[in-house]
Amino acid sequence: MTGQRPYTPGELTVHHSPDELGKVTRALRATGRKINLVPTMGALHEGHRTLIRRARRIPGTVTAVSIFVNPLQFGPDEDFHRYPRPLETDLDACRAEGVDLVFNPSPEAMYGTGATTTVHPGQLGAELEGAVRPGHFEGVLTVVAKLLNIVRPDFAYFGEKDYQQFVLVKRMVTDLNLESAIVGVPIVRDADGLALSSRNAYLSEDERRAALAIPAALAAGAMAGPDGPAAILAAARAVVEAESGLRLDYLELRARDLGPAPENGKARLLIAARAGRTRLLDNIQLVVGHGVDENDDTYNPAAGLPRER
Ligand code: PAF
Repeated sequence: MTGQRPYTPGELTVHHSPDELGKVTRALRATGRKINLVPTMGALHEGHRTLIRRARRIPGTVTAVSIFVNPLQFGPDEDFHRYPRPLETDLDACRAEGVDLVFNPSPEAMYGTGATTTVHPGQLGAELEGAVRPGHFEGVLTVVAKLLNIVRPDFAYFGEKDYQQFVLVKRMVTDLNLESAIVGVPIVRDADGLALSSRNAYLSEDERRAALAIPAALAAGAMAGPDGPAAILAAARAVVEAESGLRLDYLELRARDLGPAPENGKARLLIAARAGRTRLLDNIQLVVGHGVDENDDTYNPAAGLPRER
């Protein structure tokens, strides 16, 4: 089902070659069209579809989705080989969402030229996720830099579930003078509160039940916001520790740029935990300390889980 035409308005075309896709997006830009890029590793779920819908809200833009399980961002003992790759289902989802272009390169097409150059993420790349997954963000930034260079999108969309990735990509774009605007899209949750992730498919029924302690911990932390950083962390930790089916990798309160947490004002509470063999990430924006503006919808204890944005 992979199309060979370069671009047909209203139809999905699939490209495997970086050069071929680069030519198509260059030609589109030359006609004044703005380009969206939604980078993914496939196994598309409602979270990805939300990114695509957000992109397509901008009238007159062409939307490209990349589907590439990037070997560079997986450690030797991680799930690269078992990562789900339901390509035909993903293409159907792209068609249903009105995507114009899919980029689905092979690892050889991306790295087969004897590539040795990578993008180093700096200190933040070794913290939080980076401390547990050494080299992960170097792999992510390298592939994202390549995708941005191949497609040259005006806008590229990243889910805030991988909040550290979003912050590092924004940093890279600034530091390397790349021209794309990076748009963060709020986390999408299932009805039970679990953040959507392609890895949720690995969870058994019991693991999924245990995993619900993750959003519950974030909600508890957010509710403790006015009492300050120590209270936030203690409240969240108590919820995780009460769930024997979860093993905590980290729980940290940081500033929104992932620098040190403020004593007062908006911050981000981030968590990574394992349910069985599956690592799950989540985070929430909250307010530390007092002086909360009632009109600030990032803090909404009455609704249980503060709204993302
Ligand atoms: O978030 C992801 O799915 C991946 O890290 C990304 C950004 C597509 C790079 O491989």
